[in-house]
Parts: sequence; structure tokens; C-alpha cells
Amino acid sequence: MNRDPVLSVSGLSVTYDVDPPVEAVRDVSLTVGQGEVLGLAGESGCGKSTLAYAVQRLLRPPAEITGGQVVLHAVDGAAGGDVDLTTLSPAEMDRLRWDQVAMVFQGAMNSLNPVLTIGAQLADVFTRHRPAMGRAERTATCGALLEMVGVGADRLRSYPHELSGGMRQRVMIAMALALRPRLLIMDEPTTALDVLVQREILQEISRLREELGFSVVFITHDLPLLLEISDRIAVMRAGRVVEVGTASEIYHAARHEYTKRLLGSFPSLTGDRGDFVRKGAAV
Ligand SMILES: Nc1ncnc2c1ncn2[C@@H]1O[C@H](COP(=O)(O)OP(=O)(O)O)[C@@H](O)[C@H]1O
Ligand SMILES: [Mg+2]
Repeated sequence: MNRDPVLSVSGLSVTYDVDPPVEAVRDVSLTVGQGEVLGLAGESGCGKSTLAYAVQRLLRPPAEITGGQVVLHAVDGAAGGDVDLTTLSPAEMDRLRWDQVAMVFQGAMNSLNPVLTIGAQLADVFTRHRPAMGRAERTATCGALLEMVGVGADRLRSYPHELSGGMRQRVMIAMALALRPRLLIMDEPTTALDVLVQREILQEISRLREELGFSVVFITHDLPLLLEISDRIAVMRAGRVVEVGTASEIYHAARHEYTKRLLGSFPSLTGDRGDFVRKGAAV
């Protein structure tokens, strides 16, 4: 599968400068292709979130990037357009974040402001990043965004507490996609939701990706879930990427003992997971 890369991480290392220091991400190299879903798997504490935050330049002390590059590639390989995000000033990074690379955090649905309507919070993204946009267009765009994620434009006037967890998480996805980013990083976006809602949201993400063509880094400790939705999967352990392969390679021929153990630790593998086997056969 040869896709133009959207993002290339090379030799990235992150340390939490505490006593003793925690080397949370160690010499990680990964690429994400255009329109690709890259799954990032690994047990809790292996460094997945730290890696995602480092890519978005959202780490705060004591975390420190101690080496490596995070290159966001130019659209269609335009000359001179690649940028190493680790070298950008905070202001330059603020312009790229949301616009080109957006993120849905773990537990994001609980980060909505309880005293502002959904519409006001969506509109804020445009006020900040598209200041020239008029009020009427902004409202219409926010309504269309909610429709796009299956929430319904009538919810613009709702407050977060009036929506279910699944609906709130859809709002966060709408917000992340508002500016049509090229890459969407999702850190355990459905972990807190029940299985049915999780499945509906995954289908929604999959549909939106086909429609809009963005790339996805999908992070979860649930490797079998990744097998269903990913083109390629990277497996992390203790800060390192220990294995990368297509979903089919990981499922049928995992090389690393640790990956096999992750595969084996989910009873759901023997349940209604027929989809990924069919998908796996095609990749
Ligand atoms: N603020 C912090 N200070 C010190 N260590 C941290 C901090 N945040 C995370 N860590 C450590 O970094 C490692 C990776 O954590 P994290 O990136 O959250 O893993 P994951 O997302 O895979 O569960 C863990 O050992 C964790 O304890
Ligand atoms: Mg995490």
C-alpha cells in the first residue's frame, strides 16, 4: 500500500523529568499515510498518550521532547512545504493545530464547558481560526457539522449535560473535524462508552474518513478493535514501537511475543469479530 505520507515521526523520544526520570517514548519512528488509519496499540502506561501529545506539541513540563522529529508533510509533496513540528514556535504550532492536525482526547466528552451551549463551543473554533467568517455562515457551518456526526443541528442550543456521553463524544469529533484537518489523532475516543455506542461511533468515523479523506491515528489498548478499523497497526511497549504491520499481518502473523499476548488477552476475539477477518483478508 503506497500512500503519500502525511506525518513522519522519526527517532522521537520524550522524558518526564521527575525523580527518577521516566522515558515514556523511546526512539519512536512511524509514518501515517494519506487517508490511512494507523492504529496504535499497547498496554496502559506504555506511552501512547505521551506520543500523541508530543506530536501535537501539547506536552507540558515535566515532559520534554529529548530527540527526534515530527514532520508534517506538504500537501501533494509541494516543494519546501514539509515542517518539523518540534521546531515551530508556540504561535506557529497554534496555527497548525486544529487546522491541519486535530485531536480527540481520552475523556474529551467531559471537557466540554458545562455553562456554554454546544453551538457556542463549536462556533468558538471558527471565531479563533476563521475570524473572517460571518455570524450567519458560522451558525450554518456549526449546524452542518453536527448533522455530519449524526447529532442533529437542533442540538446547537443544547448544553452538554443534555446530551448522552456518546452524543458528547460525537460533538468532540465534529469539533476536531471543523477545520477539515488532514490528520485526526484519537486517543481512546470510545473507551468510556458502552460497546454499542462505541461501534456506532467507529462506523461514523470510518464513513467520515471516506467522505473527507483525512488520516487517522487511532489509539487504544484494545488491539482486537484496532484490527477491525486499521489499515496498519503499531504496537508499543515500554515507550518503544515493537511491531508495525498491516492489520492482516498483525492478526495472522504477529512476530512479537508481546503482540501475541495482546491478541490473546481479549476474549472478544472469539466473539462477533467476523468483520475484521474479512477486512483483514483484503488488506
Ligand atoms: N506527568 C507525568 N509525570 C511523570 N510520569 C508520567 C506523567 N504522565 C505520564 N507519565 C508516565 O509516562 C508513561 C507513559 O504514560 P502514557 O503516555 O499516559 O501511557 P498510555 O497512554 O499508553 O497509557 C507511564 O509510565 C506514566 O506513568
Ligand atoms: Mg493514554
